[in-house]
Amino acid sequence: MADNMIAWDLGADRVLVLTIDDPSQATNTMTEEFARDLTATVDRLESEKDTFDGVILTSGKDTFFAGGDLNLLMNAGPADAESIAAGLDTYKAAFRRIETLGKPVVAAINGTALGGGFEIALACHHRIALDAKGSLLGLPEVTFGVLPGAGGVTRTVRLLGITNAVLNVVGQGRRMKPAKARQVGIVDEVVADRDEMFARARAWIAANPGAVQPWDAKGYKIPGGSPSSPALTANLPAFPATVRKQLKGAPMPAPIAVLSTAVEGAQVDLDTAFAIETRYCANLICGQVSTNMIKSLFFDLNSINKGASRPAGFARRKAEKVAVLGAGMMGAAIAYVTAQSGAQVVLRDVSLEAAERGKDYSRGLLDEAVAKGRITPARRDEVLGRILATDNVTDVKGADFVVEAVFEDLELKKKVFAEVEPLLAEDALIATNTSALPLSEMVTAVGRPRDFIGLHFFSPVDKMPLLEIVVGENTGDEALARAFDFAQQIRKTPIAVKDVYAFYANRVIAQFVDQAVAMLAEGAHPASIEQATTQAGFPVGALALLDEVNMKTTLKIQRGAIAAATAEGSTYVETPGTPVQERMVEEFDRPGRLAGRGFYDYAQDGSRLSLWDGLREHFHKPEVEIPFEDMKERLLIAAALEAARCVEAGVVRTVADANIGSLFGIGFPAWTGGAIQYINQYDGGLGGFAARADDLRAKYGDRFEVPESLREMAAAGKDFG
Ligand code: NAI
Repeated sequence: MADNMIAWDLGADRVLVLTIDDPSQATNTMTEEFARDLTATVDRLESEKDTFDGVILTSGKDTFFAGGDLNLLMNAGPADAESIAAGLDTYKAAFRRIETLGKPVVAAINGTALGGGFEIALACHHRIALDAKGSLLGLPEVTFGVLPGAGGVTRTVRLLGITNAVLNVVGQGRRMKPAKARQVGIVDEVVADRDEMFARARAWIAANPGAVQPWDAKGYKIPGGSPSSPALTANLPAFPATVRKQLKGAPMPAPIAVLSTAVEGAQVDLDTAFAIETRYCANLICGQVSTNMIKSLFFDLNSINKGASRPAGFARRKAEKVAVLGAGMMGAAIAYVTAQSGAQVVLRDVSLEAAERGKDYSRGLLDEAVAKGRITPARRDEVLGRILATDNVTDVKGADFVVEAVFEDLELKKKVFAEVEPLLAEDALIATNTSALPLSEMVTAVGRPRDFIGLHFFSPVDKMPLLEIVVGENTGDEALARAFDFAQQIRKTPIAVKDVYAFYANRVIAQFVDQAVAMLAEGAHPASIEQATTQAGFPVGALALLDEVNMKTTLKIQRGAIAAATAEGSTYVETPGTPVQERMVEEFDRPGRLAGRGFYDYAQDGSRLSLWDGLREHFHKPEVEIPFEDMKERLLIAAALEAARCVEAGVVRTVADANIGSLFGIGFPAWTGGAIQYINQYDGGLGGFAARADDLRAKYGDRFEVPESLREMAAAGKDFG
């Protein structure tokens, strides 16, 4: 047993401490070796159980256990269903033997325990979590398109009842801090230090020699009732409706499978429930959606967040004093995330009043967090204390980092750079948050072009995770490295993009919304357009989205895009939706939500009411019938084609960046794994995708022209990787 990664340490007090520590990895995961060692350990537990009175299960790493082997899950296809199911059953059997050993078993969760790692803890009789820094607990499988298949759904349903288990643990895959996990009920105790964790574990073992799981106790009933209880039966029909409402018809199999596992499993005995769970889980693992989601939302995202594209050879730097110029919507929010990251912020606007109004934005968010108990008043004061609101430009003196967010006006921006530059630290990085102006024209006002870069934030800045780092022609590698460091400091996901009109994400989104509006121009029913958008998996209807952004803005962007494309000699100047937007703004004066009217009507408080009746009168042609499948695919394919063009033209540097940029920047449907992964996994591969795009082009116009590089890859039987 010497080479077992689960160390066996029997104390004089007859408490056995099992410490999981996989020497081949930084964190413990469910590898084949782990499965083998676990089974060997369980064999030994059973054969030597007379030598100990209880077991403490813990980990030798900083984290407890990271979970399933996502590499294995990602690569599984339909042919692997049986071996996947067998693998799940191996864990289920081992966990079941642990919880029926006849000795109390306590999980001493010394750090993050997610997915499979938390399922091990669920098989213990008692769970004590250490409140370690950054520690997260939970069953996040659904966020990768799978479900907890090592007993996780079955045990949480039996521990908490269907409602609590689905809503708070398995349904949305929340990762919780220990205190939250305690509140939800998936851990029993939270402790502040390791010694206390072990002392409490020993005390619990001493006090509970005959511990059994709740579901193995006599007279056990599922909390809140089994589905046959009248109270629950009355509520159950609402469950699928709630999930479907959340999904808005998007093809996301995991949340529905979680629900089915929970509801079906609650009506049968434990073993049958386990079998049901295995079947649903194996199907998900072998499907395409989980592959897409694991690839992009786990592997690509982690490597991007770790700075995979950061130029090497430059020491990491933290921005210390950040000057945010312009305290409007963007500046105020950039100041907030920057102050949160520990930097001093000078928030400068033309009047003190405007600057203070900008700072009030942070105050509002921080007050709200205090009210909800998420932060202490002291933390609020500390963050607010880092923001200096000012109208005096000399306050930026010595800043090592500048983010400019004044009006979108080239001459104004140039004036602002010239004004601040002499005051800055010698090697200060100067960034602009322009959404469309070329860096190449602004840079003439900057003395050190190598230190000039774009940081394109997305609104609302505190919620949107993406940051496009715009690399100008003269931008140096060191500046780029520092921009990546800043993204990490403020916890954004950075992608480097080329200095082209509208950069990356907005180019892609423009194609998707333009198709939606084009369909309106063709006479499609406006409600069908919205339905097609959400059924494709986008988070909100395309017309609702345009109202949010405001059509005055989108028209400006589109006209700019047409001018830029014409100047570049591109053929992609046609935007079939533009005339509709022009009529909405100019003829009907309905630019969007802020005005209280757009494609939708809005209430006084800004909440969306219903689609404007005038749409049917002015645009809808009842005789026109666009097949619903075409409607959905026009939205997806138009956006995906633009993403492919951006990859071809080097607007983005990697396929991973293209996928994450589309998921995080525009809300491209998560089930696809991103706009390029959508093409990769299209039925028939790239060839199938190109054929479908050709078909759409014949029916709906040149926006569906396939880039040459895509055809070449298709011919060579390749994909984007
Ligand atoms: P805004 O109009 O809300 O704020 C601009 C602020 O700059 C105003 O408070 C104004 O008083 C101030 N200002 C004007 N001249 C100044 C000067 N000389 N010194 C300091 N402050 C000055 O505009 P918003 O929406 O915050 O946009 C700012 C920039 O961010 C623009 O370049 C915009 O294109 C870009 N952007 C906007 C996004 C959005 O969703 N609104 C998204 C990404 C970028």
